[in-house]
Amino acid sequence: MTFHSMWAELLPIGRDSASGGYRRYAWTGADADCRTWFQEQAEARGLTYEVDRNGNQWAWLGDPAAGNAVVTGSHLDSVPDGGAFDGPLGVVSSFAALDELRSRNARFTKPLAIVNFGDEEGARFGLACVGSRLTAGQLTVEQAHRLTDGDGITLPRAMEAAGYDPDTIGADPERLARIGAFVELHVEQGRALDLSGDRVGIAGAIWPHGRWRFDFRGEANHAGTTRLADRRDPMLSYAETVLAARREAELAGAVATFGKIVVEPNGVNAIPSLVRGWLDSRAADQERLDTVVGGIEKAARAYAEAHGVDLDIVRESFTPVVEFDHALRDELARILGKDTDPGLKVPVLGTGAGHDAGILSGSIPTAMLFVRNPTGVSHSPAEHAAEDDCVAGVTALADVLEGLACR
Ligand code: GLV
Ligand code: MN
Ligand code: MN
Repeated sequence: MTFHSMWAELLPIGRDSASGGYRRYAWTGADADCRTWFQEQAEARGLTYEVDRNGNQWAWLGDPAAGNAVVTGSHLDSVPDGGAFDGPLGVVSSFAALDELRSRNARFTKPLAIVNFGDEEGARFGLACVGSRLTAGQLTVEQAHRLTDGDGITLPRAMEAAGYDPDTIGADPERLARIGAFVELHVEQGRALDLSGDRVGIAGAIWPHGRWRFDFRGEANHAGTTRLADRRDPMLSYAETVLAARREAELAGAVATFGKIVVEPNGVNAIPSLVRGWLDSRAADQERLDTVVGGIEKAARAYAEAHGVDLDIVRESFTPVVEFDHALRDELARILGKDTDPGLKVPVLGTGAGHDAGILSGSIPTAMLFVRNPTGVSHSPAEHAAEDDCVAGVTALADVLEGLACR
């Protein structure tokens, strides 16, 4: 199957016809359809298919127990109304790269696996990279059991409803010990490659990033009859906090986003009793991130007090800075025929986006390849990569896998 035909097969799954965006949330029907597609691709190639204890899917060429495996892959789930490329490009390119290596008659000296990590985006349960975090022991079973979606369904119940056994979830060091290198190909989520005129880049580092929940609690009351002076309106302190986030991020050269909000009782003619907003903030280094988030928290507390509103702030997740393995990164650059000197043709890029490769980098050597995104838009239906750039990405991934697994 060509890259093109695999891509076309995946394209309709979980796509909302009104928005044109993808709603492939963990353990839903759309996710199940993506998983079926993955299993079919594995079986069509005679690969050994398995699901690990955390619901991640694996397709093996060679003996998984032999050790020193080279693994590639990404994720198939999406953010709300996400694009087609974030995640799926890496999985489809992995199968296409294996096909290319087979057509080159590549002789594998190490096991090779393709993986689809579950729930990378955290769209349903609020925590990103659940599959890889569990595997790496960065999310405990107790924490995972507490994850709950917007309808009050817990992660274990959602897994169960999708036909998976939630009693097995947990750290999987034996599995990680079998892996010598993990390489994730991903659409770029910025315009660095477009600006440099390159089709493919190599990841250098991932910015530290996290998610914080701000609960502003005031008093519900009538929108028509309550004097302004008598209100305890949490929407006001929330709105001022959003503006403060923008200011703090600008001052520090970082980013801060309130992209999700819950309002109670959510009536046009009622002053809210609760405004719950989620802050996503990221910066090039820890110090800057601490400054931004500290500044936003301080401002939020002052605004809450000024409006007679109670405020609770909870850090829901955090991922420290990730410096990808230098030796593996240099090996990728060498394989791709370049070096890491200034002026190199395969640029090394930092990114503010989180990835399973970042989570796994604490346990095993990991690296990433990025494929040019002409507009840089991501987490949106407008996310795009040109097909010839995707094909160049497949060739680069095939070269890398050949260099790592066939020597
Ligand atoms: C995942 O794509 C993230 O960076 O939030
Ligand atoms: Mn994403
Ligand atoms: Mn992704």
